[in-house]
This record gives sequence, structure tokens and C-alpha cells, in this order.
Amino acid sequence: MKQKIIDYLNDIQAFSTDNSESIEAFRIKYLGSKGIIKELFADFKQVEPALKKEIGQSLNKLRNTATDKINELKENLETVGSEKNIYGDLTRPGEQIELGSRHPISIVKNQIIDVFSRIGFTVSEGPEIEDDWHNFTALNLPEYHPARDMQDTFFIEKDPDMLLRTHTSSVQVRYMENNKPPIRTISPGRVFRNEDISARAHCIFHQIEGLYIDTDVSFADLKQTLLYFTKEMFGKSKIRLRPSYFPFTEPSAEVDIYWGLETETDYRITKGTGWLEIMGCGMVDPNVLKNANIDPEVYTGYAFGMGIERIAMLLYQIPDIRMFYENDIRFLEQFKSVM
Ligand code: PHE
Repeated sequence: MKQKIIDYLNDIQAFSTDNSESIEAFRIKYLGSKGIIKELFADFKQVEPALKKEIGQSLNKLRNTATDKINELKENLETVGSEKNIYGDLTRPGEQIELGSRHPISIVKNQIIDVFSRIGFTVSEGPEIEDDWHNFTALNLPEYHPARDMQDTFFIEKDPDMLLRTHTSSVQVRYMENNKPPIRTISPGRVFRNEDISARAHCIFHQIEGLYIDTDVSFADLKQTLLYFTKEMFGKSKIRLRPSYFPFTEPSAEVDIYWGLETETDYRITKGTGWLEIMGCGMVDPNVLKNANIDPEVYTGYAFGMGIERIAMLLYQIPDIRMFYENDIRFLEQFKSVM
């Protein structure tokens, strides 16, 4: 028994921890109601009378040592904890707060919205799951119209009338149905096309659509607005309009900006021409106005649409569209300084 007490004493003296759970486990082991010291005191009854004094003293010592040890460990724990939480080293530099960054798509979208809201455009949105009418038919693309094939569509299997919108032009129709001219709105949003994914194309991307309807809106108004936009957005003021075709606008055009040929990158992205295509546009087709119950004899309008990824790739020289959707923190962190 003597040897046992000495061993326990050594064990207690050597014990150390800064964790409150192990202190409690230690307390239960030695001082608990079924603990080592309780047991020793029970065995003490059988000790020969001649040894009772000596063993009794060392048992008391053992108990006091264990109690002191636990109090000491608990005290240490409290001071360490409070130092961390309240006092600590007041000269220590503050802890850095990690700031996040906006996604480049959001940055560019907000910039475009900003440019157009300065000339009176409001922002409107519509559903991503669209019906055939708003995505195609009302936009002068009746069933079997060959131009439907210009945009490979994801249809909803259970309901052939429903699909994932292929462009934000669907929001034009909804806006015209619900608002009277004059109309001046831009609609940003996600669009979906059943296309192979590559460095230049993705099956999900973002567009922003503009629509302006009033009496006497002319192609010249469209041109001025585009010029204003490219100046504000890119700081470039040379644009050209190439005749094109969209079923919902007549006449239709593709807008190029003169990017310049100053650097090697300029050569590469403009394929040596200096010109870059940035969007499609045109005068709203009278059939589209009619479909939305707007009288084409009284009102005219223009519309334009562009891909947000494309603009962001230009502005930030991003070589691969897939980088927008990979959520790679090393890519996203680079936009911390831009709001
Ligand atoms: N909706 C067209 C597209 O997705 C872009 C566009 C919008 C063209 C408005 C003209 C007018 O390609």
C-alpha cells in the first residue's frame, strides 16, 4: 500500500493539462466517489494498527496534493482564457479581417447598370424558366421559324411549352406587357444554351438587354446611346454598326468598337483588325410591339443585348470563360480592389 501511494503521488505531481475536460477526468479518477483515493481510504481499515499513523498521514497528503493540483490547473485555465478574451497583450497588432470580393460578373453588371441608369433606364428582371411565348413567339419567332435554331434551347421535358430562357429578350416582352410607353429599361440575367463548353462559350452565361420605346425613337437615338455607353464603359468613342439579323429587330445590327492595335494583346483579341464585336441591336420589330399590345403606328423603339462575360473578359483580359464559374479563390481574389 505504501508503494501504491508513492506511485499515485508521483503521478499526480507530474500531471499537467490546459484542457478543462482532462482536468475533470483527472478529478473523477482520483477524487470521484468511486475514485482511487476513496478506495484507498476503504482499504485503510485493514491496515495493521502499527502502520495506521504513517499510512494515514500519507493518504491525507495524497488527497491534499490531488485537490491542490486540480485547483492549480483550473486557475491556470481561467487566467489563460481571460487573457485571450479580454486583456491579452494590448500592444499586439489587431487581427486582420478578411474582406471578400465581388464576382467579376457582378462588378461588370453593376457598371453597365450604372452607365444606363444615368440616362434614365430602370432595371427589370424576369424568370429564368420561361414559356415559349416570351422567349420565342412574341419575339417574332413563331413555331418552325428557322431562326429558333440560332439559339440551342434546353426544353423542360415534362412540359414542351417551358424552357430555360436563351436570352434576356424575354424580359423585354414581359416588361412591355406590364408597362405603358415611354419605356426605358435594362434587364440583366442568366441565360442558358445547349452548347458545348469551351474557352469561349458556356451553356450558362449572363446577358444584359436594353429596351427603349417612345414616340419618335429613331435609329439615330440608338446610335447615340451606344456611343455614350462605349465611351463610359471602355473609354473608346469609335464604333461601327454592321448590318445583321435578329427576328425581333428590324433593321438589326452588330456593334463593333474600335479597340486599337497598340499592344500584342490588342492584335490577338481583335484578330489583327483593331475591331471588336460587343453586342447586337436594332429597332424593335413592329410585330413584337403588336404582340405586346403596343401600337406600332404610334410608338417605335430600339433594343440591344450583350453578353456580360464577354465584356468582363475584355475589361480584365480573362482568357477563358470557364474561369468565371470555377470559384477558384485565386481568381476571385484579384477583384478585391474593384467594387
Ligand atoms: N437577344 C439577342 C441574342 O441573344 C441579342 C439582341 C438583343 C439583339 C436585343 C438585338 C436586340 O443574341
